[in-house]
Amino acid sequence: MAKKINVGTLISGGGTNLQAIIDACKSNLIDANILFTGSDNPGVKGLERAQKADIDTFVVDYAGIITSCKKGINDADLPSDFNLEEILSKQKLVENSASKEQLVFFLKTRAIAERKLLDIILAYDMDLLVLAGFMRVLTPYFIDRINTEPGIYKIMNIHPALLPSFPGTDGYGDTFRYGCKIGGCTVHYIDYGEDTGPIIGQKAFEIEDNDTLEDVKKKGLVKEWELFPQCIQKFADSQNKQSR
Ligand code: GRF
Repeated sequence: MAKKINVGTLISGGGTNLQAIIDACKSNLIDANILFTGSDNPGVKGLERAQKADIDTFVVDYAGIITSCKKGINDADLPSDFNLEEILSKQKLVENSASKEQLVFFLKTRAIAERKLLDIILAYDMDLLVLAGFMRVLTPYFIDRINTEPGIYKIMNIHPALLPSFPGTDGYGDTFRYGCKIGGCTVHYIDYGEDTGPIIGQKAFEIEDNDTLEDVKKKGLVKEWELFPQCIQKFADSQNKQSR
């Protein structure tokens, strides 16, 4: 029998993708086991779904952290291993045209939040981290502490568009407003850019002339629930092959 991989999950909202992964694990459709579900948002439905499935949950309240950082950030608030120059040189999330002050604030606040995530996550024996509707970008500070083996990606994300088209936070909205007749979703690994990492799998659907944005989102989600477990299984298969 194939060895099960240990998967951590991060969410921000309703968690229907999380539910699809929970169901796929429970019915042994995939060789995976969910260790935890973390959220940047307290009180979301996805946390309830995880608790119902007896999965450990936690919250790192990004909004609260950002609000308190707006009052000022002291060096003592930053993680002890935070290296601004290194992160500035690696990050591809924010254009160079953004003001340096804003960029530095962004990277510092995210590193403070990401350190809190890492303090919890790194206590688990995790093979793969899955972003199942986690609506925060991850900076090189976090990524480098999960992807510790050179060239090995361990963070997987689902994006609501056929990348490389329509990166960003509103993939279905952007697809619909552009007037596309085909929409889709993409599962990819996380790298230092926004929605730029290597693609693991994609699924497409047709957009009819009278479809509304809501129709597009519904069609897309159905595809996401199929695609995400399949891509996690691809990862599990590759791990099992390596350990043979
Ligand atoms: C999905 O459409 C996903 O692609 C996007 O956020 C949505 C999350 O939905 N990143 P859910 O929380 O899994 O229901």
